[in-house]
Amino acid sequence: MARILSFDNGQKWEKKYSLFSDAGWDVIAIASPLWPNPIELMVADPVSIKTITGNRILFPKPLELYSALTLYGTNLVTTEGNLWSRHRRLVNPSFQETSIRYVWEQTVRIVNEMFDDWGESPQHVNNVCALTKDIALLVIGAVAFGRKANWGSQSSPRPEGHEMHFHDTLRIVSEKVLLRLALPPWVWGNKETRERMGLGGIPSKGWLGSTVKEAAIAFAELELYMEEMIDERTTGGFEGRRDIMGQLMNATGEDASDRLSKRDVIGNTYIFLFAGHETTAHSLAFLFGLLALDQDEQEALYNHINSVLGDREPVYEDLSSLNLVLGAFYESLRLYSPVMNIPKLSGHDTTIPVMPAVKDDGTQMDPSAKPKSLFIPKGTPIYLYTSAVHYNPRYWKDPYAFRPARFLDPEWPREAFIPFSAGPRACIGRRFAEVEATAIISLVLKHYKITVDEARLPSIPGESVVAQRERLLGTSQDLLLTPTNCPLVFTKRQ
Ligand code: HEM
Repeated sequence: MARILSFDNGQKWEKKYSLFSDAGWDVIAIASPLWPNPIELMVADPVSIKTITGNRILFPKPLELYSALTLYGTNLVTTEGNLWSRHRRLVNPSFQETSIRYVWEQTVRIVNEMFDDWGESPQHVNNVCALTKDIALLVIGAVAFGRKANWGSQSSPRPEGHEMHFHDTLRIVSEKVLLRLALPPWVWGNKETRERMGLGGIPSKGWLGSTVKEAAIAFAELELYMEEMIDERTTGGFEGRRDIMGQLMNATGEDASDRLSKRDVIGNTYIFLFAGHETTAHSLAFLFGLLALDQDEQEALYNHINSVLGDREPVYEDLSSLNLVLGAFYESLRLYSPVMNIPKLSGHDTTIPVMPAVKDDGTQMDPSAKPKSLFIPKGTPIYLYTSAVHYNPRYWKDPYAFRPARFLDPEWPREAFIPFSAGPRACIGRRFAEVEATAIISLVLKHYKITVDEARLPSIPGESVVAQRERLLGTSQDLLLTPTNCPLVFTKRQ
Protein backbone atom coordinates (compact mmCIF):
# COMPACT_ATOMS: atom_id res chain seq x y z
CA MET A 1 0.00 0.00 0.00
CA ALA A 2 0.98 3.62 -0.19
CA ARG A 3 2.22 3.61 3.40
CA ILE A 4 5.66 4.64 2.19
CA LEU A 5 4.07 7.85 1.04
CA SER A 6 2.37 8.54 4.28
CA PHE A 7 3.67 10.94 6.81
CA ASP A 8 3.68 8.27 9.53
CA ASN A 9 2.72 11.10 11.83
CA GLY A 10 6.15 12.51 11.21
CA GLN A 11 7.74 10.03 13.59
CA LYS A 12 10.10 8.27 11.25
CA TRP A 13 11.49 11.37 9.56
CA GLU A 14 11.22 13.37 12.67
CA LYS A 15 13.62 11.16 14.58
CA LYS A 16 16.18 11.75 11.91
CA TYR A 17 15.69 15.34 10.95
CA SER A 18 13.10 17.27 12.85
CA LEU A 19 13.71 20.54 14.54
CA PHE A 20 10.79 19.75 16.85
CA SER A 21 11.64 16.30 18.07
CA ASP A 22 9.89 16.36 21.47
CA ALA A 23 6.24 16.58 20.59
CA GLY A 24 5.86 15.70 16.91
CA TRP A 25 4.65 18.28 14.42
CA ASP A 26 2.87 18.27 11.14
CA VAL A 27 5.56 20.43 9.62
CA ILE A 28 9.02 18.95 9.53
CA ALA A 29 12.31 20.41 8.48
CA ILE A 30 14.93 18.31 6.78
CA ALA A 31 18.46 19.11 5.75
CA SER A 32 18.22 20.55 2.26
CA PRO A 33 20.22 19.04 -0.58
CA LEU A 34 19.88 22.39 -2.38
CA TRP A 35 22.76 24.65 -1.49
CA PRO A 36 22.69 27.29 0.04
CA ASN A 37 19.49 26.49 1.95
CA PRO A 38 20.25 24.80 5.26
CA ILE A 39 16.76 23.29 5.48
CA GLU A 40 13.64 22.63 3.50
CA LEU A 41 10.19 22.23 4.95
CA MET A 42 7.65 19.48 4.35
CA VAL A 43 4.19 20.47 5.32
CA ALA A 44 1.47 17.97 6.19
CA ASP A 45 -1.22 20.06 7.80
CA PRO A 46 -3.98 22.04 6.11
CA VAL A 47 -3.71 24.90 8.61
CA SER A 48 -0.15 25.66 7.49
CA ILE A 49 -1.05 24.89 3.88
CA LYS A 50 -3.90 27.38 3.87
CA THR A 51 -1.49 30.11 5.03
CA ILE A 52 1.03 29.18 2.34
CA THR A 53 -1.34 28.76 -0.62
CA GLY A 54 -3.33 31.84 0.39
CA ASN A 55 -0.43 34.28 -0.06
CA ARG A 56 1.39 34.29 -3.39
CA ILE A 57 3.64 37.21 -2.40
CA LEU A 58 4.99 35.57 0.75
CA PHE A 59 5.03 32.07 -0.78
CA PRO A 60 5.65 32.21 -4.53
CA LYS A 61 6.34 29.27 -6.82
CA PRO A 62 10.06 28.47 -7.30
CA LEU A 63 10.00 29.26 -11.01
CA GLU A 64 13.49 27.91 -11.73
CA LEU A 65 12.03 24.39 -11.36
CA TYR A 66 9.70 25.06 -14.28
CA SER A 67 11.96 26.95 -16.70
CA ALA A 68 12.18 24.01 -19.12
CA LEU A 69 8.41 24.22 -19.61
CA THR A 70 8.69 27.61 -21.30
CA LEU A 71 9.84 25.74 -24.42
CA TYR A 72 6.92 26.95 -26.52
CA GLY A 73 6.21 30.19 -24.66
CA THR A 74 5.40 31.50 -21.19
CA ASN A 75 2.27 30.07 -19.65
CA LEU A 76 0.24 29.65 -16.48
CA VAL A 77 2.63 27.15 -14.92
CA THR A 78 5.89 29.00 -15.56
CA THR A 79 4.93 32.51 -14.44
CA GLU A 80 4.41 34.38 -11.18
CA GLY A 81 3.29 37.86 -10.10
CA ASN A 82 1.49 40.14 -12.54
CA LEU A 83 2.37 38.05 -15.57
CA TRP A 84 0.73 34.98 -13.98
CA SER A 85 -2.35 37.06 -13.00
CA ARG A 86 -2.74 38.15 -16.61
CA HIS A 87 -2.41 34.60 -17.95
CA ARG A 88 -4.89 33.30 -15.38
CA ARG A 89 -7.42 36.09 -16.10
CA LEU A 90 -7.31 35.41 -19.83
CA VAL A 91 -7.21 31.61 -19.61
CA ASN A 92 -9.91 31.19 -16.96
CA PRO A 93 -12.95 31.73 -19.23
CA SER A 94 -11.77 28.85 -21.45
CA PHE A 95 -12.33 26.41 -18.57
CA GLN A 96 -15.97 27.33 -18.01
CA GLU A 97 -19.23 25.65 -19.03
CA THR A 98 -18.65 25.51 -22.82
CA SER A 99 -15.45 23.52 -22.53
CA ILE A 100 -16.62 21.42 -19.61
CA ARG A 101 -19.67 20.25 -21.54
CA TYR A 102 -17.35 19.55 -24.46
CA VAL A 103 -15.15 17.46 -22.16
CA TRP A 104 -18.17 15.35 -21.27
CA GLU A 105 -19.31 14.90 -24.90
CA GLN A 106 -15.87 14.01 -26.21
CA THR A 107 -15.15 11.61 -23.35
CA VAL A 108 -18.44 9.77 -23.89
CA ARG A 109 -17.75 9.53 -27.62
CA ILE A 110 -14.24 8.14 -27.10
CA VAL A 111 -15.23 5.61 -24.43
CA ASN A 112 -18.12 4.33 -26.56
CA GLU A 113 -15.76 3.90 -29.51
CA MET A 114 -13.47 1.92 -27.21
CA PHE A 115 -16.40 -0.31 -26.17
CA ASP A 116 -17.21 -0.95 -29.86
CA ASP A 117 -13.61 -1.94 -30.38
CA TRP A 118 -13.69 -4.27 -27.36
CA GLY A 119 -16.79 -6.16 -28.48
CA GLU A 120 -18.16 -8.87 -26.22
CA SER A 121 -15.00 -10.69 -25.15
CA PRO A 122 -13.23 -9.99 -21.84
CA GLN A 123 -10.42 -7.47 -22.20
CA HIS A 124 -7.13 -8.38 -20.55
CA VAL A 125 -5.28 -5.13 -20.01
CA ASN A 126 -1.65 -5.67 -19.08
CA ASN A 127 -1.17 -2.31 -17.39
CA VAL A 128 -4.35 -0.33 -17.02
CA CYS A 129 -2.40 2.94 -16.99
CA ALA A 130 -1.63 2.53 -20.71
CA LEU A 131 -5.38 2.29 -21.33
CA THR A 132 -6.33 5.35 -19.27
CA LYS A 133 -3.50 7.29 -20.91
CA ASP A 134 -4.89 6.46 -24.37
CA ILE A 135 -8.36 7.69 -23.38
CA ALA A 136 -7.10 10.86 -21.66
CA LEU A 137 -4.84 11.70 -24.61
CA LEU A 138 -7.74 11.58 -27.07
CA VAL A 139 -9.79 13.77 -24.71
CA ILE A 140 -7.04 16.40 -24.38
CA GLY A 141 -6.40 16.23 -28.14
CA ALA A 142 -10.04 16.98 -28.88
CA VAL A 143 -10.89 19.45 -26.12
CA ALA A 144 -7.64 21.40 -25.70
CA PHE A 145 -6.25 21.23 -29.25
CA GLY A 146 -9.47 20.83 -31.22
CA ARG A 147 -8.24 17.69 -33.03
CA LYS A 148 -10.90 15.00 -32.80
CA ALA A 149 -9.50 11.53 -33.36
CA ASN A 150 -11.22 8.19 -33.15
CA TRP A 151 -10.34 5.36 -30.82
CA GLY A 152 -7.82 3.16 -32.63
CA SER A 153 -7.03 5.83 -35.23
CA GLN A 154 -3.67 6.51 -33.62
CA SER A 155 -1.96 4.55 -36.38
CA SER A 156 -3.59 6.44 -39.27
CA PRO A 157 -1.25 7.95 -41.91
CA ARG A 158 0.59 11.13 -41.04
CA PRO A 159 -0.56 14.31 -42.74
CA GLU A 160 1.46 15.85 -45.53
CA GLY A 161 4.27 18.10 -44.35
CA HIS A 162 4.64 16.23 -41.07
CA GLU A 163 7.02 13.56 -39.91
CA MET A 164 4.65 12.30 -37.26
CA HIS A 165 0.96 11.74 -36.71
CA PHE A 166 -0.56 14.37 -34.39
CA HIS A 167 -1.56 11.90 -31.69
CA ASP A 168 1.87 10.24 -31.69
CA THR A 169 3.30 13.71 -31.25
CA LEU A 170 1.06 14.37 -28.25
CA ARG A 171 1.82 10.98 -26.72
CA ILE A 172 5.60 11.24 -27.09
CA VAL A 173 5.75 14.85 -25.90
CA SER A 174 3.64 13.93 -22.88
CA GLU A 175 5.71 10.85 -22.03
CA LYS A 176 9.13 12.36 -22.60
CA VAL A 177 8.86 15.41 -20.39
CA LEU A 178 11.59 14.12 -18.07
CA LEU A 179 13.95 13.65 -21.00
CA ARG A 180 13.01 17.14 -22.08
CA LEU A 181 13.91 18.49 -18.65
CA ALA A 182 17.21 16.60 -18.58
CA LEU A 183 18.68 17.79 -21.91
CA PRO A 184 19.50 21.33 -23.09
CA PRO A 185 16.82 23.31 -24.97
CA TRP A 186 18.56 23.37 -28.35
CA VAL A 187 18.18 19.58 -28.62
CA TRP A 188 14.46 20.05 -28.65
CA GLY A 189 14.13 22.24 -31.64
CA ASN A 190 12.33 25.26 -30.24
CA LYS A 191 11.86 27.11 -33.49
CA GLU A 192 13.43 30.38 -32.37
CA THR A 193 16.40 28.64 -30.75
CA ARG A 194 16.90 26.49 -33.83
CA GLU A 195 16.80 29.49 -36.12
CA ARG A 196 19.25 31.39 -33.93
CA MET A 197 21.60 28.42 -34.03
CA GLY A 198 21.16 27.93 -37.76
CA LEU A 199 19.70 24.47 -37.25
CA GLY A 200 16.90 24.74 -39.80
CA GLY A 201 13.52 23.00 -39.53
CA ILE A 202 12.76 19.66 -37.91
CA PRO A 203 15.88 18.35 -36.12
CA SER A 204 17.73 15.59 -37.89
CA LYS A 205 20.52 14.97 -35.46
CA GLY A 206 21.89 11.59 -36.44
CA TRP A 207 24.13 11.39 -33.41
CA LEU A 208 21.20 11.49 -31.00
CA GLY A 209 19.95 8.14 -29.70
CA SER A 210 16.73 6.98 -31.34
CA THR A 211 14.60 7.77 -28.28
CA VAL A 212 15.98 11.28 -27.99
CA LYS A 213 15.69 11.77 -31.73
CA GLU A 214 12.08 10.62 -31.78
CA ALA A 215 11.32 12.89 -28.84
CA ALA A 216 13.13 15.84 -30.45
CA ILE A 217 11.07 15.36 -33.60
CA ALA A 218 7.88 15.13 -31.56
CA PHE A 219 8.62 18.36 -29.67
CA ALA A 220 9.38 20.19 -32.89
CA GLU A 221 6.35 18.66 -34.65
CA LEU A 222 4.00 19.73 -31.87
CA GLU A 223 5.11 23.30 -32.35
CA LEU A 224 4.46 23.07 -36.10
CA TYR A 225 1.04 21.53 -35.49
CA MET A 226 0.09 24.24 -33.00
CA GLU A 227 1.18 26.98 -35.39
CA GLU A 228 -0.92 25.41 -38.14
CA MET A 229 -3.90 25.19 -35.80
CA ILE A 230 -3.63 28.87 -34.96
CA ASP A 231 -3.35 29.76 -38.65
CA GLU A 232 -6.40 27.59 -39.43
CA ARG A 233 -8.40 29.40 -36.78
CA THR A 234 -7.14 32.82 -37.85
CA THR A 235 -8.13 32.28 -41.48
CA GLY A 236 -11.11 29.95 -40.93
CA GLY A 237 -12.45 31.83 -37.91
CA PHE A 238 -12.56 30.74 -34.32
CA GLU A 239 -15.89 32.26 -33.29
CA GLY A 240 -18.03 29.59 -31.70
CA ARG A 241 -15.24 27.02 -31.53
CA ARG A 242 -15.54 24.94 -28.40
CA ASP A 243 -11.97 23.75 -28.09
CA ILE A 244 -9.82 25.51 -25.53
CA MET A 245 -7.21 26.70 -28.01
CA GLY A 246 -9.91 28.45 -30.08
CA GLN A 247 -11.33 30.05 -26.96
CA LEU A 248 -7.88 31.24 -25.85
CA MET A 249 -7.44 33.03 -29.18
CA ASN A 250 -10.77 34.71 -28.64
CA ALA A 251 -10.15 35.69 -25.01
CA THR A 252 -9.93 39.37 -24.15
CA GLY A 253 -9.40 41.23 -20.90
CA GLU A 254 -11.43 44.27 -19.84
CA ASP A 255 -9.76 46.14 -22.65
CA ALA A 256 -10.55 44.35 -25.94
CA SER A 257 -6.95 44.81 -27.08
CA ASP A 258 -5.73 42.78 -24.10
CA ARG A 259 -5.31 39.42 -25.85
CA LEU A 260 -2.98 36.47 -25.54
CA SER A 261 -0.26 36.54 -28.19
CA LYS A 262 0.21 33.60 -30.57
CA ARG A 263 3.16 32.44 -28.40
CA ASP A 264 1.01 32.71 -25.24
CA VAL A 265 -1.72 30.56 -26.84
CA ILE A 266 0.84 27.96 -27.92
CA GLY A 267 2.60 28.02 -24.52
CA ASN A 268 -0.64 27.54 -22.61
CA THR A 269 -2.13 24.90 -24.88
CA TYR A 270 1.04 22.83 -24.49
CA ILE A 271 0.87 23.21 -20.72
CA PHE A 272 -2.65 21.72 -20.67
CA LEU A 273 -1.17 18.59 -22.21
CA PHE A 274 1.65 18.58 -19.68
CA ALA A 275 -0.60 19.28 -16.66
CA GLY A 276 -3.80 17.53 -17.69
CA HIS A 277 -2.98 14.27 -19.43
CA GLU A 278 -1.05 11.92 -17.16
CA THR A 279 -2.44 13.41 -13.93
CA THR A 280 -5.96 12.35 -14.91
CA ALA A 281 -4.84 9.07 -16.50
CA HIS A 282 -2.83 7.91 -13.48
CA SER A 283 -5.58 8.67 -10.98
CA LEU A 284 -8.09 6.72 -13.08
CA ALA A 285 -5.68 3.80 -13.34
CA PHE A 286 -5.24 3.73 -9.55
CA LEU A 287 -9.02 3.84 -9.14
CA PHE A 288 -9.65 0.90 -11.49
CA GLY A 289 -7.04 -1.08 -9.53
CA LEU A 290 -8.66 -0.18 -6.20
CA LEU A 291 -12.08 -1.20 -7.51
CA ALA A 292 -10.75 -4.51 -8.85
CA LEU A 293 -9.38 -5.29 -5.40
CA ASP A 294 -12.53 -4.28 -3.57
CA GLN A 295 -15.48 -6.00 -5.22
CA ASP A 296 -17.87 -4.75 -2.49
CA GLU A 297 -17.03 -1.12 -3.21
CA GLN A 298 -17.25 -1.82 -6.94
CA GLU A 299 -20.71 -3.32 -6.50
CA ALA A 300 -21.80 -0.34 -4.39
CA LEU A 301 -20.66 2.01 -7.14
CA TYR A 302 -22.36 -0.08 -9.83
CA ASN A 303 -25.62 0.00 -7.86
CA HIS A 304 -25.30 3.75 -7.37
CA ILE A 305 -24.79 4.31 -11.12
CA ASN A 306 -27.81 2.12 -11.91
CA SER A 307 -29.93 3.91 -9.33
CA VAL A 308 -29.18 7.23 -11.07
CA LEU A 309 -29.37 6.02 -14.68
CA GLY A 310 -31.65 3.01 -14.74
CA ASP A 311 -31.43 1.57 -18.25
CA ARG A 312 -30.29 4.71 -19.99
CA GLU A 313 -26.81 6.02 -20.75
CA PRO A 314 -25.33 8.88 -18.67
CA VAL A 315 -25.82 12.47 -19.87
CA TYR A 316 -24.15 15.70 -18.81
CA GLU A 317 -27.11 16.65 -16.63
CA ASP A 318 -26.48 13.53 -14.47
CA LEU A 319 -23.19 14.93 -13.20
CA SER A 320 -24.42 16.18 -9.85
CA SER A 321 -26.42 13.00 -9.16
CA LEU A 322 -23.41 10.76 -9.83
CA ASN A 323 -21.86 11.95 -6.58
CA LEU A 324 -20.53 8.57 -5.43
CA VAL A 325 -18.68 8.33 -8.75
CA LEU A 326 -16.94 11.61 -7.98
CA GLY A 327 -16.38 10.30 -4.44
CA ALA A 328 -14.58 7.24 -5.87
CA PHE A 329 -12.37 9.49 -8.02
CA TYR A 330 -11.59 11.67 -4.98
CA GLU A 331 -10.80 8.62 -2.87
CA SER A 332 -8.31 7.45 -5.48
CA LEU A 333 -6.79 10.96 -5.55
CA ARG A 334 -6.59 10.95 -1.77
CA LEU A 335 -4.84 7.58 -1.55
CA TYR A 336 -2.66 7.99 -4.64
CA SER A 337 -2.25 11.67 -5.38
CA PRO A 338 -0.37 11.90 -8.68
CA VAL A 339 1.21 15.24 -7.72
CA MET A 340 2.98 14.14 -4.57
CA ASN A 341 4.39 17.44 -3.50
CA ILE A 342 3.73 21.00 -4.50
CA PRO A 343 6.82 23.22 -4.32
CA LYS A 344 6.72 26.73 -2.89
CA LEU A 345 9.32 29.15 -1.55
CA SER A 346 9.36 31.68 1.27
CA GLY A 347 9.69 34.98 -0.57
CA HIS A 348 10.45 36.90 2.68
CA ASP A 349 11.36 36.16 6.29
CA THR A 350 8.00 35.03 7.62
CA THR A 351 6.13 32.64 9.91
CA ILE A 352 3.59 29.85 9.46
CA PRO A 353 1.33 28.18 12.02
CA VAL A 354 2.35 24.58 12.75
CA MET A 355 0.12 21.94 14.31
CA PRO A 356 1.09 19.18 16.74
CA ALA A 357 1.02 15.72 15.13
CA VAL A 358 -1.55 13.09 16.06
CA LYS A 359 -1.43 9.34 16.56
CA ASP A 360 -3.15 6.84 14.25
CA ASP A 361 -6.34 7.13 16.30
CA GLY A 362 -6.44 10.88 15.70
CA THR A 363 -5.52 11.89 19.26
CA GLN A 364 -2.62 14.24 19.77
CA MET A 365 0.77 12.63 20.42
CA ASP A 366 1.54 15.11 23.14
CA PRO A 367 -1.80 16.13 24.65
CA SER A 368 -0.32 19.33 26.09
CA ALA A 369 1.22 20.54 22.79
CA LYS A 370 -0.34 23.70 21.34
CA PRO A 371 -0.18 24.99 17.74
CA LYS A 372 2.77 27.29 17.36
CA SER A 373 4.28 29.75 14.98
CA LEU A 374 7.36 28.72 13.05
CA PHE A 375 9.85 31.27 11.74
CA ILE A 376 10.93 30.61 8.14
CA PRO A 377 13.88 32.49 6.66
CA LYS A 378 13.54 34.01 3.19
CA GLY A 379 14.41 31.57 0.39
CA THR A 380 13.46 28.37 2.24
CA PRO A 381 12.11 25.66 -0.12
CA ILE A 382 8.72 24.40 1.06
CA TYR A 383 6.90 21.28 -0.13
CA LEU A 384 3.20 20.78 0.43
CA TYR A 385 3.12 17.02 0.93
CA THR A 386 -0.19 15.96 -0.57
CA SER A 387 0.09 12.31 0.45
CA ALA A 388 1.00 13.25 4.02
CA VAL A 389 -2.03 15.55 4.31
CA HIS A 390 -4.26 12.87 2.78
CA TYR A 391 -3.21 10.26 5.36
CA ASN A 392 -3.19 12.63 8.33
CA PRO A 393 -5.42 10.87 10.92
CA ARG A 394 -6.39 14.20 12.48
CA TYR A 395 -8.62 14.71 9.43
CA TRP A 396 -9.16 11.26 7.90
CA LYS A 397 -10.64 8.42 9.88
CA ASP A 398 -9.04 5.10 9.01
CA PRO A 399 -6.89 6.84 6.37
CA TYR A 400 -5.59 3.68 4.68
CA ALA A 401 -9.07 2.34 3.89
CA PHE A 402 -10.58 2.78 0.40
CA ARG A 403 -13.99 4.32 1.15
CA PRO A 404 -15.52 6.44 -1.63
CA ALA A 405 -18.61 7.14 0.51
CA ARG A 406 -16.56 9.25 2.95
CA PHE A 407 -16.97 12.05 0.38
CA LEU A 408 -20.77 11.88 0.67
CA ASP A 409 -20.56 13.21 4.22
CA PRO A 410 -21.38 16.93 3.88
CA GLU A 411 -18.72 17.60 6.53
CA TRP A 412 -15.84 15.85 4.76
CA PRO A 413 -12.58 17.73 5.45
CA ARG A 414 -12.19 19.77 2.27
CA GLU A 415 -9.20 21.68 3.58
CA ALA A 416 -7.30 18.38 4.01
CA PHE A 417 -7.83 17.37 0.37
CA ILE A 418 -5.23 19.03 -1.86
CA PRO A 419 -4.60 16.85 -4.95
CA PHE A 420 -5.34 19.96 -7.04
CA SER A 421 -3.45 22.27 -4.62
CA ALA A 422 -5.39 25.15 -3.06
CA GLY A 423 -5.72 28.93 -3.12
CA PRO A 424 -5.52 31.16 -6.19
CA ARG A 425 -2.94 28.91 -7.90
CA ALA A 426 -5.01 25.77 -7.52
CA CYS A 427 -5.46 23.60 -10.61
CA ILE A 428 -7.41 25.39 -13.33
CA GLY A 429 -8.29 22.01 -14.90
CA ARG A 430 -9.94 20.51 -11.82
CA ARG A 431 -13.46 20.55 -13.23
CA PHE A 432 -12.14 19.29 -16.58
CA ALA A 433 -10.58 16.27 -14.82
CA GLU A 434 -13.62 15.64 -12.62
CA VAL A 435 -16.06 15.65 -15.51
CA GLU A 436 -13.83 13.49 -17.68
CA ALA A 437 -13.35 11.02 -14.82
CA THR A 438 -17.06 10.91 -13.97
CA ALA A 439 -17.94 10.10 -17.58
CA ILE A 440 -15.27 7.39 -17.88
CA ILE A 441 -16.01 5.73 -14.53
CA SER A 442 -19.81 5.75 -15.01
CA LEU A 443 -19.60 4.26 -18.48
CA VAL A 444 -16.98 1.64 -17.68
CA LEU A 445 -18.63 0.51 -14.43
CA LYS A 446 -22.10 0.44 -15.97
CA HIS A 447 -21.00 -1.90 -18.75
CA TYR A 448 -18.01 -3.81 -17.36
CA LYS A 449 -16.97 -5.64 -14.24
CA ILE A 450 -13.33 -5.09 -13.34
CA THR A 451 -11.19 -7.84 -11.80
CA VAL A 452 -7.49 -8.44 -11.21
CA ASP A 453 -5.93 -10.52 -14.00
CA GLU A 454 -5.18 -13.66 -11.99
CA ALA A 455 -3.04 -15.10 -14.80
CA ARG A 456 -0.64 -12.18 -14.48
CA LEU A 457 -0.97 -11.52 -10.78
CA PRO A 458 -2.16 -14.68 -9.03
CA SER A 459 -3.79 -14.17 -5.65
CA ILE A 460 -2.00 -15.51 -2.59
CA PRO A 461 -4.24 -17.41 -0.15
CA GLY A 462 -4.68 -15.52 3.10
CA GLU A 463 -3.09 -12.33 1.75
CA SER A 464 -4.43 -9.14 3.35
CA VAL A 465 -6.13 -6.46 1.25
CA VAL A 466 -3.29 -4.12 2.13
CA ALA A 467 -0.60 -6.55 0.93
CA GLN A 468 -2.58 -7.28 -2.24
CA ARG A 469 -2.91 -3.56 -2.88
CA GLU A 470 0.83 -3.15 -2.53
CA ARG A 471 1.46 -5.82 -5.17
CA LEU A 472 -1.16 -4.64 -7.66
CA LEU A 473 -0.65 -0.93 -7.21
CA GLY A 474 3.13 -0.76 -6.99
CA THR A 475 4.21 2.78 -7.76
CA SER A 476 7.13 4.60 -9.27
CA GLN A 477 7.77 8.26 -8.68
CA ASP A 478 9.19 10.42 -11.40
CA LEU A 479 7.34 13.62 -12.09
CA LEU A 480 4.11 11.97 -11.00
CA LEU A 481 3.10 9.01 -8.90
CA THR A 482 2.68 6.23 -11.46
CA PRO A 483 1.13 2.75 -11.21
CA THR A 484 3.78 0.41 -12.60
CA ASN A 485 2.02 -2.92 -12.84
CA CYS A 486 -1.72 -3.19 -12.76
CA PRO A 487 -3.04 -6.07 -14.90
CA LEU A 488 -6.84 -6.04 -14.98
CA VAL A 489 -9.66 -7.76 -16.83
CA PHE A 490 -12.75 -5.89 -18.04
CA THR A 491 -15.67 -8.31 -18.49
CA LYS A 492 -18.89 -7.15 -20.14
CA ARG A 493 -21.90 -7.18 -17.83
CA GLN A 494 -24.96 -8.91 -19.30
C1 HEM B 1 -6.53 14.44 -11.71
C2 HEM B 1 -6.10 15.38 -12.52
C3 HEM B 1 -5.28 16.57 -12.09
C4 HEM B 1 -4.53 16.76 -10.97
C5 HEM B 1 -4.31 15.79 -9.80
C6 HEM B 1 -3.94 18.09 -11.06
C7 HEM B 1 -3.14 18.66 -10.08
C8 HEM B 1 -2.66 19.94 -10.14
C9 HEM B 1 -1.86 20.57 -9.10
C10 HEM B 1 -1.44 19.91 -7.79
C11 HEM B 1 -1.56 21.82 -9.51
C12 HEM B 1 -0.71 22.85 -8.78
C13 HEM B 1 0.73 22.61 -9.17
C14 HEM B 1 1.71 23.57 -8.55
O1 HEM B 1 1.34 24.65 -8.11
O2 HEM B 1 2.90 23.23 -8.55
C15 HEM B 1 -2.15 22.00 -10.82
C16 HEM B 1 -2.04 23.14 -11.58
C17 HEM B 1 -2.46 23.23 -12.88
N1 HEM B 1 -3.20 22.31 -13.58
FE1 HEM B 1 -3.88 20.53 -12.87
N2 HEM B 1 -4.33 18.64 -12.25
C18 HEM B 1 -5.16 17.76 -12.90
C19 HEM B 1 -5.77 17.96 -14.13
C20 HEM B 1 -5.58 19.05 -14.94
C21 HEM B 1 -6.17 19.23 -16.24
C22 HEM B 1 -7.15 18.25 -16.90
C23 HEM B 1 -5.67 20.40 -16.74
C24 HEM B 1 -5.93 21.07 -18.07
C25 HEM B 1 -6.57 20.55 -19.07
C26 HEM B 1 -4.78 20.97 -15.75
C27 HEM B 1 -4.10 22.15 -15.87
C28 HEM B 1 -3.40 22.77 -14.85
C29 HEM B 1 -2.75 24.07 -14.99
C30 HEM B 1 -2.71 24.91 -16.25
C31 HEM B 1 -2.17 24.36 -13.74
C32 HEM B 1 -1.41 25.62 -13.35
C33 HEM B 1 -2.38 26.59 -12.71
C34 HEM B 1 -1.75 27.88 -12.23
O3 HEM B 1 -0.59 27.86 -11.80
O4 HEM B 1 -2.44 28.90 -12.29
N3 HEM B 1 -4.76 20.12 -14.67
N4 HEM B 1 -2.82 20.84 -11.18
